[in-house]
Amino acid sequence: MNVIAKPAALDVAAIRAQFPILSQTVRGKPLVFLDSAASAQKPRAVIDAMRIAMETQYANVHRGLHWMSERTTEAYEAARDAVAALMNAGDRSEIVLTRNVTESLNLMAHSYGSLLKPGQAVLISGMEHHSNIVPWQMLRDRAGIELRVCPITDAGELDMDAFETLLADGKVGLVSITHMSNVLGTVTPAERIVQVAHAHGAKVLFDGAQAVVHRAIDVQALDCDFYAWTGHKLYGPTGIGVLYGKRDLLERMPPFLGGGDMISSVSYERSTWAAVPHKFEAGTPPILEGIGLKAAIDWVQAIGYDAIAAHERSLVDHALARLSAIEGVHIVGRAQDRGGVVSFSLDRAHAHDVATLLDRQGIAVRAGHHCAEPLMGRFNLDSTARASFGVYTTLGEIDALADGLDRVRTFFK
Ligand code: ALA
Repeated sequence: MNVIAKPAALDVAAIRAQFPILSQTVRGKPLVFLDSAASAQKPRAVIDAMRIAMETQYANVHRGLHWMSERTTEAYEAARDAVAALMNAGDRSEIVLTRNVTESLNLMAHSYGSLLKPGQAVLISGMEHHSNIVPWQMLRDRAGIELRVCPITDAGELDMDAFETLLADGKVGLVSITHMSNVLGTVTPAERIVQVAHAHGAKVLFDGAQAVVHRAIDVQALDCDFYAWTGHKLYGPTGIGVLYGKRDLLERMPPFLGGGDMISSVSYERSTWAAVPHKFEAGTPPILEGIGLKAAIDWVQAIGYDAIAAHERSLVDHALARLSAIEGVHIVGRAQDRGGVVSFSLDRAHAHDVATLLDRQGIAVRAGHHCAEPLMGRFNLDSTARASFGVYTTLGEIDALADGLDRVRTFFK
């Protein structure tokens, strides 16, 4: 008989003690922070790593021949190693460090986009963030590349029959799709997406901004061609993002931004490029942010994705049960496979008013279109309220949300 070991339960109190901000009161109430999908709070390990670097070991990187620059370069490049290990990349040169996932996706639209021919298409889905729509629209308008959108079901899942049909004519050069919706919480079937896309000759880029927070990503097992994510949702600092790309593809791609650090040589007649990944890293990079990101990755790995995923599953199950039981509350998105994000609407109340009244009770949720206006249209909404969870979220905070929402409901009765 196979015995599958259950991941050890998280000691959430011990985890919370590592986040100085969480012990604050807001409007006289204990802070209930349910907006981690927008940006996660930072543990002491990340704060300390960045502060210590600034206090003891800081200079510009890749340039200096002095001790301080060499040590800082080592610390910054250790972030690339940590990212490569986190994603199981085959080689550290496959990790491009950017400023955020939006920059990673724009890099792809400019650089990989320039390899596509007029008449070819990029395929996205109906649950993308604006950052995975607008760069492709800009490519379409400047280069004659068709933009196709795969529909989603009423449950908020990718319509895989339509996905296959949209690939059938072989014109799609690139599928660029979210690995987890920031609105619905839906986790898309990444393995199947890659298999089907590759069978039709398309490369695959995942927007993993949300997914990387909730589950281990193995780019070699997945066999995806590109994978983008950002540090600040993974308990790291703002200002640092990641683009993984298979090395042969990165080598074929032209640079995105020009400047220092991305060249091999420069003359007025022509310039030549540095090897990957530096070809894509113009200018002084996010040095302190890289050091903070490495600390965040170490911190997350010490907890372990199995434990994180199990904790979030219990939070989502509890949230769906509690919120669904409130009269007039409607959950948007009922995907089978989902992460720690729950969007909802309340009868007779605008989402902004719901969020404002929850805020009065010390409860922070996001409200609006969540940078996903076309997705809102799919559900005939202009906005939702959204609760999103982190590793520090407690079941008690979900209860506070449900009780708070019940009070909001009586206000709008
Ligand atoms: N993309 C972030 C969110 O979903 C900002 O809130």
